[in-house]
Amino acid sequence: MGNKVHIFDTTLRDGEQVPGCKLNTSEKVNLALRLEALGVDIIEAGFPVSSPGDFQSVTAISKVIKDAVVCGLSRAVERDIEVAAEALKYAHRPRIHTGLGTSDSHIKYKFNSDRATILQWAAQCVQTARKYTDDIEFYAEDAGRTDNEFLARVIETVIKAGATVVNIPDTTGYCLPHQYGEKIAYLVNNVPNIDKAIISCHCHNDLGMATANSIAGVISGARQIECTINGLGERAGNTSLEEVVMVIRQHPDLGFKTRIDTTQLYSLSQDVSDIMRMPVQANKAIVGANAFAHSSGIHQDGFLKNASTYEIIRPDEVGAPGSKIVLTARSGRSALAFRLQQLGYQYDRNDIDFIYEQFLKVADSVKEVGEAELRQLAGFHANAFKTQAI
Ligand code: KIV
Ligand code: ZN
Repeated sequence: MGNKVHIFDTTLRDGEQVPGCKLNTSEKVNLALRLEALGVDIIEAGFPVSSPGDFQSVTAISKVIKDAVVCGLSRAVERDIEVAAEALKYAHRPRIHTGLGTSDSHIKYKFNSDRATILQWAAQCVQTARKYTDDIEFYAEDAGRTDNEFLARVIETVIKAGATVVNIPDTTGYCLPHQYGEKIAYLVNNVPNIDKAIISCHCHNDLGMATANSIAGVISGARQIECTINGLGERAGNTSLEEVVMVIRQHPDLGFKTRIDTTQLYSLSQDVSDIMRMPVQANKAIVGANAFAHSSGIHQDGFLKNASTYEIIRPDEVGAPGSKIVLTARSGRSALAFRLQQLGYQYDRNDIDFIYEQFLKVADSVKEVGEAELRQLAGFHANAFKTQAI
């Protein structure tokens, strides 16, 4: 099976579906080039049949991407597949991503159909797509809520029809990590031709478990993760690329690797946030403004003695600007001394005790004590001691 986990980025497709995040062709091309430089294996460039603009973007991306696979989404509809193939015709390594819903809910409410028809339809869409390229990914939409036995039959059927990657989306973000892991293990153990395809995880974050579910999937035998920069995607988003990549990197015990150059993660996160006008939440893992900020006295004291006490990732590993000691009413003397020292003020223990008392008065009245307040505290200390000397 190998230990390489393929990173399939869908920022330009699932991520771009987010209201307000739409990109034009030149923005999409620039982002695709950045994703290729980051080292992603597959770029899902868009959904070509959805609009002329998206068709144009997928075509333009196909022309410039040399190394990564370029993928276009389609429904299990002949016209969609033809249009996806047309948009991908310049790609060095084209992939068509086609599929349909397999859960009872989708079969009944979306298609008003039955399992036998869905099986035939699944095989048909893969066969149609195979006319255009050998690299076919099939998605079993809402696989997270699809009965495992039926899912296994669908997957066996589409692999027989020529699918080379089988995507098991937890479309509604419903699964618990152990359930999603068991689902992948079930497919590994019950689909006779599973060795002919790569299993892919596509997890949504409705219950905040997308990253955990994707990792559980990989532990059970999946070798592709579908994810987006900053976890953008429908509703509560997709699996965040930076999170899964760093989980794999920080846990060599898992035995997996990716091709991602992690030092580009922070700047790409910022740039995606800017062009998609979606702020990164401050406490976002890996790339949030507070991911390397320490504000409580207990943490600050430990961090200043040795960073490894409170940081499991060095900021430079992800290209972040650096760790921060933030001063609030919860901060301690070591942090105060450290920040004053950074501004060029060197004090002994008694001085710090004196300034700390004043500091707490200020800190209780503001959210954060900044440089201006620190300089005022240093001035206050100097005046107090001048007065005493007189
Ligand atoms: O969430 C989902 O099921 C999808 C599919 C189209 C892959 O985005
Ligand atoms: Zn999705």
